[in-house]
Amino acid sequence: MFLNNYWYVIAWDYEIKQKPFARTVCGEPIVLFRRPDRSLVALEDCCPHRMLPLSQGRVKGELIVCGYHGIELNGKGECVHMPNMDKVPASVRVKAYPVVERHRYVWVWIGDPAAADEARIPDLHWCSDPNWAFDGGTYYVRCDYRLLVDNLMDLTHETFVHPTSIGQEEITQAPIKTTEDDKSVTVTRWMHDIEPPPFWASNLKSNDVCDRWQIGTFTLPANVMIDVGVARAGTGAPEGNRKQGVTGIVVDVMTPESDTTTWYFWGMTRDFEVKDQGLTCRIKDAQSAVFAEDIVVLEAQQANILRRPDRTLRNFNIDAGGVRARRLIDRELAKQSAPVTAA
Ligand code: FES
Ligand SMILES: [Fe+2]
Repeated sequence: MFLNNYWYVIAWDYEIKQKPFARTVCGEPIVLFRRPDRSLVALEDCCPHRMLPLSQGRVKGELIVCGYHGIELNGKGECVHMPNMDKVPASVRVKAYPVVERHRYVWVWIGDPAAADEARIPDLHWCSDPNWAFDGGTYYVRCDYRLLVDNLMDLTHETFVHPTSIGQEEITQAPIKTTEDDKSVTVTRWMHDIEPPPFWASNLKSNDVCDRWQIGTFTLPANVMIDVGVARAGTGAPEGNRKQGVTGIVVDVMTPESDTTTWYFWGMTRDFEVKDQGLTCRIKDAQSAVFAEDIVVLEAQQANILRRPDRTLRNFNIDAGGVRARRLIDRELAKQSAPVTAA
């Protein structure tokens, strides 16, 4: 069961063109395309005639044409033409999803379309703000999206999974502070007077000792933003002065496809050397390699979970962030499945 009445990222902005694009979100197959004016359409990916996925058809101006017998549907999912029929009943239609393009992503609303509220799209302004440089990619991961949330809410794993780039022993020794409210969970870790690991030494352009931070925030349904960076040691970063440091935000948006598969939209936005496109590309390459290391772990973990239904995940101190995030998810799911009491 997935959280309803939330915006989910279905694709990057550049992925949707004037041809059908298919992706399943929370178990719902969806077809997307752009109209000639570039506005977006998102429809149930199932022809109302004989159920061929509409994504196997073609786009004709503002319409999508089924690739089997040529039914034509508009952006509201209504049938406007069916070969060999003068009049088609109004019931011949498919579900249309609210869809919005914002902060480099395409978002679809899963749940009651009447409840879709654009104000609830997460504020990822750093992904489209010219004062920041942003790029990223997508991984299709064969795991429950909550395993990804666990992974991102506990960066202790960096020491063991990413030892050559961002991992370092000091991460395992630094205390973790976990806080929460009714919509988010935040884990904060500061490391003082340490040597920057290779990724951060290269961004700081120095091997001098630094203060390093990792502040990860989970918000529903499955978004984790991690404020990360380093500053020259003792220059006031813990008190909020990052002038002698470099800041990045690791942008992680998880969209469940099924119980055991996830579309993972990853990226990083930074506030330094924002016009250096080469640096943007190098960071994207580095991040892609780092996350590929996570995927190996996550998929092996999921395979073992499926193989061993008699076992459960254990929670230790380092898991506090993930545990609390899962608790928030469970609380919302319980509300969703509670019977509606008559007023
Ligand atoms: S299956 Fe689509 S028009 Fe027949
Ligand atoms: Fe990782």
